[in-house]
Amino acid sequence: MEQKREKFSSSLTVFFATLSSAVGLGNIWMFPYVVGQNGGAAFIIVYLGCVLLIGLPTLISEFVVGRGTRKNVCGAISKVTDKRRFKLIGYIAVLSTSCMLFFYTVVAGWVYSYVFKALFGVLKGVTAEEAAQIFNSTSLGPISPIIWQLIVLVVAGSILGLGVKSGIEKLTKVLMPILMGLLILCVLTSLTLPGAYSGIEFLLKPDFSKVTVGVILSALGLAFFKLSVGTGTMVTYGSYFTEDNDLIGTAGKVAIADTGVSLLAGLAIFPAVFSFGLAPTEGPGLLFNTVPLIFAKMPGGSILSIIFFGLTAMAATMATISLLEVLIALFTEELKISRKKSIIINISIIVLIGSLAALSANPDGVLAHIKIFGFTIFDSFDKFVSNILLPINGLLVILLLGYGLSKDFIIEQLTNKGTLKNQKVVSLLMFIIKYVTPILILIVFVKSFV
Ligand code: PHE
Repeated sequence: MEQKREKFSSSLTVFFATLSSAVGLGNIWMFPYVVGQNGGAAFIIVYLGCVLLIGLPTLISEFVVGRGTRKNVCGAISKVTDKRRFKLIGYIAVLSTSCMLFFYTVVAGWVYSYVFKALFGVLKGVTAEEAAQIFNSTSLGPISPIIWQLIVLVVAGSILGLGVKSGIEKLTKVLMPILMGLLILCVLTSLTLPGAYSGIEFLLKPDFSKVTVGVILSALGLAFFKLSVGTGTMVTYGSYFTEDNDLIGTAGKVAIADTGVSLLAGLAIFPAVFSFGLAPTEGPGLLFNTVPLIFAKMPGGSILSIIFFGLTAMAATMATISLLEVLIALFTEELKISRKKSIIINISIIVLIGSLAALSANPDGVLAHIKIFGFTIFDSFDKFVSNILLPINGLLVILLLGYGLSKDFIIEQLTNKGTLKNQKVVSLLMFIIKYVTPILILIVFVKSFV
């Protein structure tokens, strides 16, 4: 029996739900540390270019495929094309979603544990050394990182169990505005710290000599990661969009809001990093080593740090939900397994393999000595997804739109059957999708491997 498919209820909830997938650890945890490792301002400029010319057109393309077919990612691709090479989109999406969940839920687990640390006053008034110690112990133990990872998945799975509408919609509407408000508070505090200016300079004064092909590939991967494209997530969410939703408009608004949150996170963290004499190149621990220090300087910092980590945990959960939904939609629609069973099966697999990532994330972790091409298991999942799977899948999606689908199908989706008067924007977009985006992805991708 065909199950009746759910839909988001209005354009506003479509926007918030999509944004809740885009905004997550990518903004608050990953963006600052990747910017730090890649030299600051110049990287941000390259990143913005990648969002505009590559991420955004790919995001719109995924929406078109999703809403035009109203199916899970594999079903959607099968419905629009029978060319073997495009079928790859579905398979790569499943692979990249899974690999991403393996490491994403580890970091989400750290954030969850920080909520409790904040709650029990562990972070109160900490010094830089104490903050580093706390982070070290969080990511180190053989058991606790896995337990936290499991908790994240159980929470995400339970919300998903409620279904698309009631689960996803309700939470995001409240969450996003509060998160932004709190980030702004962090920015204001961070900017008043002594020596904050060096941080601003790092973020705003570009040094283009630092831009290498590797840096551009990182920016490209981050742009995909940030907008949740290349994993089938936006095809899946697109399949729940309302008929009257303006796909280009939604994608534009999501990209702007998402970039705004990332920049706010950068503005909150870097002035503090320089003020406290920490290293901007510190890597995945940057957020955890810096933010407690900012709150330690704020009146009411104890309570605000609870709220901050609480909201970050929620944002990470919403993004996890959007990743899981790719697999759940696939299991229920293609394999005809009930939603509940699909959730349980997927969570079990993710914890099983993901625990390898959990135990290798800390340099002293139990499995940190295992290296794949010089990377730990944790880093391998991250690099494999961001630098290889997302760009390849993004490229395939763009090629599908540019060369594999009928023009009528695409135009119908982009103009909502002619009801939107956006012909000029559509023509410009189609030009970019055909000639600009694929060439840019190819150049970056091929150059970085040669
Ligand atoms: N965009 C999310 C973030 O920034 C991560 C994500 C990627 C979610 C891909 C879904 C799909 O945290």
